[in-house]
Amino acid sequence: MLLPLGLLWAALSLGSCFPLQRAPTRSKLLLVSFDGFRWNYDQDVDTPNLDTMAAEGVKAKYMTPAFVTLTSPCHFTLLTGRYLENHGVIHNMWFDTKTGVKLPYYTTQGISSWWDNGSLPIWITAQRQASVAPPPAHTLHTPSHAATLQEKLQASHDPQWPRVLSLPVNGLKTGSIHFPGTKAKYQGEEVYKKMVEPALFNYSNETNWRQSIDTVMEWFTADNLDFITLYFGEPDSSGHKFGPESTQRKAMIEQVDRTVGYLRQRIRESGLESKLNLIITSDHGMETVIKTNEIVIRTVSNFTFKDLDFELLDYGPNGLLVPKEGKLEHVYSVLKNAHPNLHVYKKEEFPKRFHYANHSRITPLLLYSDPGYVIHGRYKVQFNKGEHGFDNEAMNMKTIFRAVGPAFRKGLEVEPFESVNVYALLCELLGISPEPHDGSLEVTKPMLRDPAEPTEPTGPTEPTEPTEPTEPIGPTKPGGNGSGSLHPAKELPLMLGLALVLGCWGGIF
Ligand SMILES: *[C@@H]1O[C@H](CO)[C@@H](O)[C@H](O)[C@H]1NC(C)=O
Ligand SMILES: *[C@@H]1O[C@H](CO)[C@@H](O)[C@H](O)[C@H]1NC(C)=O
Ligand SMILES: *[C@@H]1O[C@H](CO)[C@@H](O)[C@H](O)[C@H]1NC(C)=O
Ligand SMILES: *[C@@H]1O[C@H](CO)[C@@H](O)[C@H](O)[C@H]1NC(C)=O
Ligand SMILES: *[C@@H]1O[C@H](CO)[C@@H](O)[C@H](O)[C@H]1NC(C)=O
Ligand SMILES: *[C@@H]1O[C@H](CO)[C@@H](O)[C@H](O)[C@H]1NC(C)=O
Ligand SMILES: [Zn+2]
Repeated sequence: MLLPLGLLWAALSLGSCFPLQRAPTRSKLLLVSFDGFRWNYDQDVDTPNLDTMAAEGVKAKYMTPAFVTLTSPCHFTLLTGRYLENHGVIHNMWFDTKTGVKLPYYTTQGISSWWDNGSLPIWITAQRQASVAPPPAHTLHTPSHAATLQEKLQASHDPQWPRVLSLPVNGLKTGSIHFPGTKAKYQGEEVYKKMVEPALFNYSNETNWRQSIDTVMEWFTADNLDFITLYFGEPDSSGHKFGPESTQRKAMIEQVDRTVGYLRQRIRESGLESKLNLIITSDHGMETVIKTNEIVIRTVSNFTFKDLDFELLDYGPNGLLVPKEGKLEHVYSVLKNAHPNLHVYKKEEFPKRFHYANHSRITPLLLYSDPGYVIHGRYKVQFNKGEHGFDNEAMNMKTIFRAVGPAFRKGLEVEPFESVNVYALLCELLGISPEPHDGSLEVTKPMLRDPAEPTEPTGPTEPTEPTEPTEPIGPTKPGGNGSGSLHPAKELPLMLGLALVLGCWGGIF
C-alpha cells in the first residue's frame, strides 16, 4: 500500500518538477530540411504546394544561416540553437591538425567525438525529458505550493537536478532520417529510431523521398514518435552541379514542391493534420561560382606550403591553416593582400559577427572569400558551378523557413531571422526545456497561435491509441541501452522512484 501511494505522489509532484508547463495535448513535430534551398528558389518556378503551405501557415521572408554556411555545421545549429564556435561542429570535415588527416562529409557523420562537443542536439534533450501536463486542479497540490516548489528547484542550482530530467521517466520518442548528426552518439545516447544512408547514396531519387515520408508517417502513427527530423540532399546537389540559375535546379524545385504536396497529403491521410506541426527549412543558400580571376593559393608570391603544418583548402570559400612554428606572421602577410576577394585573418581578429572563430578547433589562420569566389589550394580540384560556405549576410546564402500546423498562425509572413532561433521554437513546440543556446523564443513567438484561440476543425480526427515502441529499424540500430530502448511501461515506476530520490528530494523535503 505504501509503495503505490508513494509512486502516485511522485507522479503527481513530478509534474511540478518540470519548469515548462504545457497544455495536456501535446502535438507531434516534424522538422524537414531540403539542403541548399536558397530563400528565393520558389520565385522563378511554380510551387503550388509550397504556396498552399504558406497560405495555411507561416512563412519567413528568409532565414539567415550560421557561418560557415556548410551543411553539417548549419544543421547542427538548427538542432542546438548555437553558433558554430559554441557547438564545435565547425566544418563538414573532421580533421586532425597534428596528423593532417581529413575525413569527408559522410565519414565524419560517424565520428561521434566531432559532433558531441558540449552541445546536446534536441533529439537527446527530448528523449531525456517528459513533456508533462500541469497536474489537474483536484490533485494534492495547491497552485501556491507548486509555485514554491518550482522556485525552490530553480533557485537551488543543484547539479543533480538536470539529471532527473535526463532519466527516461517518460521521455519523448524521437526519430531521424538522413539528417546530419543522426549517426553520432551524444553522451552515449542516440536518436531512438534512425535511418542513416549508405556511403554511396543517391540523394535525388524521388521514389526514395516518398519512401522516407511513408516511413515517417509509420513512425508517427504505429510507433507513436513525438519528434522526427527528415533530410533531403536536394536542391543542394543540383545547385552545385548545374548552378543555382540552371534549368536543372528549377526542375529540382518542382520535385521538392511535389514532395511537399505528397508529405502534406500523407499527413492528412494519417490523421495527423490537427496534431502535427510541420517545419520546412534548410541549411544555407547557393551562389554561382565565378571562374575568372580565381583565388589560387599555390601561385601567391612568396607563399610556400612548406611553411604550413596543416591546411584545409579546396572546400569552397573557406580555409583553415596552421603555419609552422615562427611562420605565422610571414604566411599571414603574404596571403593578406594576395587577392582582392580573399580575406585572411588571425584567429583572434576574425570578425566577431560570424560567431565562428572562438573555438579550440579553429586554426591560427582563417581564410574566406567573397561571394562567388572559391579558394583553390595546391591543385585545382573544385569544378562546381554552384557553391556555399560564404558570408551568411550575402543574400544568396539566405535560406527558407516555413511552418504549418495547429501551433502556427495562418497566412502569416514574418520578417527574416537567424537560424539559431529555431531551436527554442522546437523546444517550445515539444514542451521541453531547452539547453543553453544562442537564440531566443521571442523571435519566433509571433508565429504561434494564441493557445486561447480555438483551432478550426480540419476534418475528421480519430483518436490514435498510443502504441508500444517497437525495435528500432533501419540500417543502423542503436547499439546501447539509451533511453529509447527502455520499455516505458516497465521502467516507469523505477524511474519515478529515482526521480523522487534524486530530483525532488532536496526541493520538497
Ligand atoms: C571539443 O573538441 C576538442 C577537440 O577537437 C576538445 O579539445 C574539447 O575538449 C572538446 N570539448 C568538449 C566540451 O567536448
Ligand atoms: C530510385 O529508387 C528506387 C527505390 O529505391 C529504385 O527502384 C529506382 O531504381 C531508383 N531510380 C533511379 C533512377 O536510380
Ligand atoms: C539519381 O537518381 C536520379 C533519378 O531519381 C537520376 O536522375 C540521377 O542520375 C541519379 N544520380 C546518380 C549520381 O546516379
Ligand atoms: C617576396 O619576398 C622578396 C624577398 O624577401 C621581397 O623582396 C618581395 O617584396 C616579396 N614580395 C611580396 C609580394 O611579398
Ligand atoms: C570565447 O569562448 C569562451 C568559452 O569557450 C568564452 O568564455 C569567451 O567569452 C568567448 N570569447 C568571445 C570573445 O566570445
Ligand atoms: C542492455 O542492458 C541489459 C541489462 O543491463 C544487458 O543485458 C544488455 O546487454 C544491454 N544491451 C546493450 C546493447 O548494451
Ligand atoms: Zn552543398
